[in-house]
Amino acid sequence: MKTVLVTGGCGFIGANFLNHFVPRIPDVTFVNIDKLTYAGNPLSVESLQALDNYRFEQVDICDADAVLKVMKRHMPDTVVHFAAESHVDRSIHGPGDFIHTNVVGTLNLLDACRTIWKDFEGKRFHHVSTDEVYGSLGDDGFFTENTPYDPSSPYSASKASSDHLVRAWYRTYGLPVTITNCSNNYGPYQFPEKLIPVMILNVLERKPLPVYGQGLNVRDWLYVTDHCDAIMTVLNKGKVGDTYNVGGNCERANIDVVHAICDIVSDLKNIDRNDSRNLITYVTDRPGHDFRYAIDATKIKAELGWSPSETFETGMRKTVQWYLDNVDWIDGVRSGKYLEWMERNYSQRGK
Ligand code: NAD
Ligand code: TYD
Repeated sequence: MKTVLVTGGCGFIGANFLNHFVPRIPDVTFVNIDKLTYAGNPLSVESLQALDNYRFEQVDICDADAVLKVMKRHMPDTVVHFAAESHVDRSIHGPGDFIHTNVVGTLNLLDACRTIWKDFEGKRFHHVSTDEVYGSLGDDGFFTENTPYDPSSPYSASKASSDHLVRAWYRTYGLPVTITNCSNNYGPYQFPEKLIPVMILNVLERKPLPVYGQGLNVRDWLYVTDHCDAIMTVLNKGKVGDTYNVGGNCERANIDVVHAICDIVSDLKNIDRNDSRNLITYVTDRPGHDFRYAIDATKIKAELGWSPSETFETGMRKTVQWYLDNVDWIDGVRSGKYLEWMERNYSQRGK
């Protein structure tokens, strides 16, 4: 690896990836291309600006010419593709952007790689995907790499489509690809529209905690830097053409996650835990709400030796503390558009 082009490096996981690896691998140049949508925040990677091995370019991956130009300028040998529209609720309100960015954007990147890579020796296109492509589990079972795709939301359908494109470019053109399908992440820099930051900030601000349905849906939570380590492990040791499932073996019902957040925030801020839990408000469920996700990560553990470092308890404490310590970042992302979205999403749910 000499030059790694990262897409969506100003988003939640991309920023954590860059903040983690750019200072640690000074002999590799990291080029961050990001459109800077509502979810992309240059503040999240501010400390990297001073480093010699970091570059940023504002590029929309839906613009094929711009993608090709930036690739030709930097000639990366490795692409790590994070950029996406990523929020299920937004995909329900407006699926179009999800198809453009997640499907057409991925196509543009795959094609640009084929154009600039005259031979595929030492090259890699790594696609960052989600376990949501597999659909919903009942009470039992786990997603493996062989679970058939069965996406439920416009978001997961668009990610499933992009996974299929990536595999097709491997089988048809021999493009050296790898894919990771990861469970729900949490940690610093997550935009406050997803469950965990919404709940942390609402407890802090003593606002209602909107739990969808009965709060019994289950997600398998992974601390974000563990996901980033998994991606780096696959870049270094993964088999070209292969898919790796990544998960924390950490299933929690949403209501238990919300209780844990109430308790951690209350303890840190000297608030009565019950007063915080009393903020919980059950609201109308998400349409097509997948009941349960759970990853079987045996393959990446056994073949590549990856395992997560954080438990839910240690990761969640770090996360809450980060939001308490980073009020400027939170103020920075809460633009007018953010407020409009919060109003649109939650006002329609009722109680
Ligand atoms: P995010 O929404 O926080 O960030 C997405 C980033 O992509 C932003 O910086 C945004 O500006 C950028 N972007 C969006 N459209 C773009 C475009 N057209 N051109 C260039 N940049 C664009 O998302 P995230 O949570 O960091 O997720 C990153 C990737 O990981 C996504 O592909 C997502 O599907 C996948 N993933 C996320 C999770 C999770 O729990 N968050 C879990 C598994 C997989
Ligand atoms: P989310 O963070 O949106 O991730 P995903 O839908 O990709 O899993 O939601 C996680 C879970 O939390 C999901 O079951 C929906 C639920 N949820 C709520 O109950 N309330 C909320 O305000 C949000 C944003 C999500």
